[in-house]
Amino acid sequence: MPSHDWRRTAVVYQVYPRSFADADGDGVGDLPGITGRLGALAELGVDAVWLSPFYSSPQADAGYDVADYRDVDPIFGTLADFDALLNRAHDLGLKVIVDLVPNHSSDEHPWFRAALAAAPGSPERERYMFRDGLGENGELPPNNWDSCFRGPAWTRTTNADGSPGQWYLHLFDTKQPDWNWENEEVRAEFLSVLAFWLDRGADGFRVDVAHALIKAPGLPDIDLRVDDGLEADTEGLFGSGPMWDQDRVHEIYQSWRELLDTYSTDRILVAEAWLQPLSRLARYVRADEMHQAFNFDYLETGWHAPALRRSIDASLTANDSVGAPTTWVLSNHDVVRHVSRLGLNSDGPRPNGIRAQDPQPDYALGLRRAKAATLLMLGLPGSAYLYQGEELGLPDHTSLDDDLRQDPTWWRSGYTEAGRDGCRIPLPWESDAPGLGFGPSAKTWLPQPDSYVELARDRQAGVEGSTLGMYQAALALRRAFALGAGSLEWGVDRGAHVVAFTNGEVTVMTNIGAEPVPLPAGEVLMTSDELTADGLLPPDVTAWLV
Ligand code: GLC
Repeated sequence: MPSHDWRRTAVVYQVYPRSFADADGDGVGDLPGITGRLGALAELGVDAVWLSPFYSSPQADAGYDVADYRDVDPIFGTLADFDALLNRAHDLGLKVIVDLVPNHSSDEHPWFRAALAAAPGSPERERYMFRDGLGENGELPPNNWDSCFRGPAWTRTTNADGSPGQWYLHLFDTKQPDWNWENEEVRAEFLSVLAFWLDRGADGFRVDVAHALIKAPGLPDIDLRVDDGLEADTEGLFGSGPMWDQDRVHEIYQSWRELLDTYSTDRILVAEAWLQPLSRLARYVRADEMHQAFNFDYLETGWHAPALRRSIDASLTANDSVGAPTTWVLSNHDVVRHVSRLGLNSDGPRPNGIRAQDPQPDYALGLRRAKAATLLMLGLPGSAYLYQGEELGLPDHTSLDDDLRQDPTWWRSGYTEAGRDGCRIPLPWESDAPGLGFGPSAKTWLPQPDSYVELARDRQAGVEGSTLGMYQAALALRRAFALGAGSLEWGVDRGAHVVAFTNGEVTVMTNIGAEPVPLPAGEVLMTSDELTADGLLPPDVTAWLV
């Protein structure tokens, strides 16, 4: 495969439409807002943008609950706004990947409404996962599965006459009923949705919870003793169990790939699958399936040199075995931003959101490590994913008023898990504008923390030593040295606490230990923070040398 294939080397920037930029002043970001600010992303130097969902949706899960897969929600704009965004992006040389949510729809999707109105056993109900309940009167859920957002994965329906009816499955919120992917109409419908966006010119799809579509026959209980259920998965551990990673899910992606391959230009399919081990994940990127899969193993690896070396090795080995590029990612709209995560300085599990009463991250430490982590990631061969705002060094909002939380995890967990709102705060563009320039009004759907003033883009653009400057420089060098298309060799040995490798002409070295370490010979191209006065690589700093 030629190395100029963007599907093997791209740096993809995730835009979270609610929080990127607001053109109409209602406090929620929208497509025209994104279009107006795309120039900033071209300047940053990324190759593509991935847009989180902007489809018609009641927004029960911030748009990951789709009511119409072929239209834009009025809060985000219109189809014409999408076309304008796509044209502008293409003019700037940016590819556009849209988010496809095939595991579940919204309960306000016309097919789910029709299913509720129809009788058990009807073709309408067959498109979703309806089952009779257990117990004498069907009062118990059909199995013991829990929702990823906590609470049961089943909700009981009410019949037209008011009597209790069947149950339906939702691996996520009650308002996100799971599709039945054994159903031919569902399969045909999604091929048609894919074609709809491909025909409009979309460059590809990020596929939401790609490992969930097919469930084990008979929907057996999870064996809680082996700890392989949803609970474990949402902790980022496994992704095994009867609702995840069933072998037959691959038929679906093979059929999607066949469709993509009928289009002339290079379109992409990217799997979102929180799945272990990496050899299972690699099955999604075999030659006749998707092109990439997010590497959450890497995201989950803490700030430890041996663990990072292991994850890098395991990732490259798994993907090489199927001839696919490896991807790297540190932040997205579902996890505490890496500036905040790495500032927690803890070995505990990754928290699902940080509340005011929780231990607070050390921002300076977190930023220093996050910059080093980013420079390490961007030195790796393959594709890398950036999440909006990380180029500004934004932390999570870690003292958000609980009353303002919108992530369903918050109430579904009985108000114990903050959830993901903290990483979804509207971006700061101009430090002295109302709403920090997010839009023409002062409104922002979630409040911005005070710390965002200093971090606003206009405070960093063109400023030596800024986080934004580091991202820009790294992306330019990554391109100049074709690091995405390179290959990794270990070899520089600076002890247990250092991650060091060469990628083509470039040596990448990160010091995760407590003491400064000497750099290998060569010219320093850039560093994530200053070297010591005598030219050593200090703790929590990455250097690129040539
Ligand atoms: C994915 C999305 C997440 C969403 C969930 C259900 O994990 O990234 O934001 O809540 O799927 O669609």
